[in-house]
Amino acid sequence: METIITIKDLRKVYKLGSEKVVALDNINLEIQKGQVCCILGTSGSGKSTLLNQLAGLEKPTRGAVYIGKNNISKFGEDRLAAFRQRNIGFIFQSYNLMTSHTALENVAMPLMFRGVPKAKREKIAAQMLREVGLEKRMHHRPNQMSGGQQQRVGIARAFVASPKIIFADEPTGNLDTKTTIEVMAMMVRMCRQNNQTLILVTHDSYLAQYADRIVTLIDGKIVSDVENKSIVDRMSNEEIVEYFLSENANLAETTVLESEEEIEAIRQELQEEKQAEGGEPPVGTAASTAGEEPAPKAELPEQESPADTAEENLEGNKQ
Ligand SMILES: Nc1ncnc2c1ncn2[C@@H]1O[C@H](COP(=O)(O)OP(=O)(O)O)[C@@H](O)[C@H]1O
Ligand SMILES: [Mg+2]
Repeated sequence: METIITIKDLRKVYKLGSEKVVALDNINLEIQKGQVCCILGTSGSGKSTLLNQLAGLEKPTRGAVYIGKNNISKFGEDRLAAFRQRNIGFIFQSYNLMTSHTALENVAMPLMFRGVPKAKREKIAAQMLREVGLEKRMHHRPNQMSGGQQQRVGIARAFVASPKIIFADEPTGNLDTKTTIEVMAMMVRMCRQNNQTLILVTHDSYLAQYADRIVTLIDGKIVSDVENKSIVDRMSNEEIVEYFLSENANLAETTVLESEEEIEAIRQELQEEKQAEGGEPPVGTAASTAGEEPAPKAELPEQESPADTAEENLEGNKQ
């Protein structure tokens, strides 16, 4: 597997008057291309600080951040800005959309910075908005949309220029549970499609289950780094909703949901509910093959695990 981000002996100290805050201390981490990596920690543990160093928004006090072979900690401002435009997408808790611009204009913005002509960028942005289910909201402004819709605009904007890396800092912090599930699944499945790397920052251990890997921070230090089987590769969105609403989702550890039986039980419940409502069972689901078919019925049939899609395919997608 190819390493896309390397963090070496990273330390970040903030000075507040005469006081020093050690926000990050001795961080070493390698993140693989195509990985969905969750940085998990309580408020004040250093998550946003880490993300800011990774994205080159702040300079480390000590140590270095490499993206590919580039030591971005050594880049000057202009080079960093250009590098970010080419390679990085951001998704924010508070969406950070331009309030006087429409959804379409917001999504087209990163393409403008990359010199794509107007007609072409509007076409690509419109396609992105369709992908996130907002074809009917293209000409709405942020204040004419719900939080979930605004964040889907934020996702479309982050992905529109096909960046290699997406950073998301508490992306669902302002959303209700159901919208959170939709938005999370959308982000991760979009990364899967193009083998993009997602760094997801959250305080919420439920959300960590979307990741391939969970790195836990306490007081600016990595205290645990575990692999996880992403929930999106195991369940459909509908099943994820059911799962999070069930008591099984009560997380003590960050690597729950080990058993296929558990998933199968959820599937079974969904089937029974559907049949009780008189609805037709979906084609090819657990109705006829209960217990034999552990593969998740994901919405994106072409999706593969990152291990199978290591090839360079980041150029030209979505365009
Ligand atoms: N610009 C800053 N100046 C001073 N202290 C800061 C600054 N940014 C963050 N900190 C401090 O660094 C620590 C980590 O903050 P942060 O990375 O924002 O945590 P998290 O995102 O996990 O909530 C906290 O103690 C916070 O108060
Ligand atoms: Mg934060």
